[in-house]
Amino acid sequence: MYKLETIISLAKRRGFVFQSSEIYGGLNGCWDFGPLGVELLLNIKEAWWKAMTYRDDIEGIDASILMHPRTWDASGHTKQFSDPMIDNKTSKSRHRADNLIEEHIEKLRKKNKNDEADKIQIKLDSVKENSDYYDIITEHEIKDPISGSMDWTEVRNFNLMFKTFVGPIEDSSSIVYLRPESAQGIFVNFKNVMETGRQKPPFGIAQIGKAFRNEINTKNFLFRTREFEQMEMQYFVKPGSEKDWFEYWKEQRWNWYLSLGMKPEKMKWKNHEKLAHYANMAVDIEFEFPFGFGEIEGIHSRTDFDLKSHQEFSGKKMEYVDTVNQDRYIPYVIETSGGVSRGLMAFLCNAYEEEQVSDEKGGSETRVVMRFNKKLAPVTAAVFPLVNKDGMPELAHKIYKDLQKNFKSQYDVSGAIGRRYRRQDEIGTPYCVTVDGTSLEDGTVTIRERDSMQQIRISIDKIKNYIQDGIE
Ligand code: GAP
Repeated sequence: MYKLETIISLAKRRGFVFQSSEIYGGLNGCWDFGPLGVELLLNIKEAWWKAMTYRDDIEGIDASILMHPRTWDASGHTKQFSDPMIDNKTSKSRHRADNLIEEHIEKLRKKNKNDEADKIQIKLDSVKENSDYYDIITEHEIKDPISGSMDWTEVRNFNLMFKTFVGPIEDSSSIVYLRPESAQGIFVNFKNVMETGRQKPPFGIAQIGKAFRNEINTKNFLFRTREFEQMEMQYFVKPGSEKDWFEYWKEQRWNWYLSLGMKPEKMKWKNHEKLAHYANMAVDIEFEFPFGFGEIEGIHSRTDFDLKSHQEFSGKKMEYVDTVNQDRYIPYVIETSGGVSRGLMAFLCNAYEEEQVSDEKGGSETRVVMRFNKKLAPVTAAVFPLVNKDGMPELAHKIYKDLQKNFKSQYDVSGAIGRRYRRQDEIGTPYCVTVDGTSLEDGTVTIRERDSMQQIRISIDKIKNYIQDGIE
């Protein structure tokens, strides 16, 4: 297994991901997507949007990031959206108490002290209140990783929502929050969408949008960031049918990742033992990152918690009225919630491969190849003239301009042809088109396929259809 640093370095070198405001030293927990990163991001979102909304029973929306502050009282975020935090007085560093303990357990396991690690794990799993974290940290003499001291404060809750103000006056009446999940924009629009979309349960509302969390510990590249994007869908169902729909959506979401080339051996399910305040069933799809398995998407059965709570806080009915069967109810909700940037990181890790291939001089060299699903690849086609003379660049450039109308394409004239193939392999371009001497004589080119490295010769007027068929 390669290291996360290898992926981060490729991502930076080839323009997938940069540190946010890098020239000022960066901003912790924030990242910028470069020219290739933004293409990959858009391709992931497009694949999700098509899978989730190009069907009869799901409508899309795009709600605003700033919402009425009562939204977050109703959803429970004002009171409950917090992490247990502990400060070290010597280093003035702040940690998530549960993470600090988990890291200590990991260290013990690396030293083969499994009995002690198991003991602490059992205590961690049965934590009920903040003082339990404090007791574990002090009893097991867990030290601050920065100062090595045990000069700890008590464990307190730290709300993860970013606060800001609307209008010119910064007082308590003007506080608003950057949304910590996109889901609430869907719940508050439940009635609007059901009525204008002429839908009735079972039906869903899907949304892709930014969310913000003031995470205490941001780490592992794009895995835990303070600004990120979510792809969420709430599926409104008749109470009592939620179990079946939960199973249905588990299968749909798992298969979506497979359909985009995620390796099944790198995915697994994780059942939630401890359920969030709103859920009666919950599972995560996990992916094996270089640092271990981590959640990429959650599928939650949220009961009628959110709609009921919004009904109570807003005074507006959140029911579905079935006039045919004389029935009325607040629907139950099955939620599918995936992170776009976390998903992008999983697709990057999933695609990365190194292999030994023969080089142009008959020796061997390492080929780095991003085996993205062809639909997701940030660049679909690259066009090269074999040599930079004899009319080849002119013809190659014309083919490139034609392909660019349909596919994200690149034109490359610099360096030996083998180097140009390697550059495209490293960003996962599925097709490389080369114009050579024969092209000028008979109007054919070679197309090289990324994974097999096989080349075929086809006529110029067939290139577009060949590539289109390959990415479908
Ligand atoms: N509406 C439910 C909800 O937000 P969640 O498990 O907190 O549930 C859903 O988040 C998904 O959002 C996660 O599976 C993950 O992919 C992504 N996500 C959550 N927090 C994140 C963070 N700090 N950085 C990047 N992605 C995050």
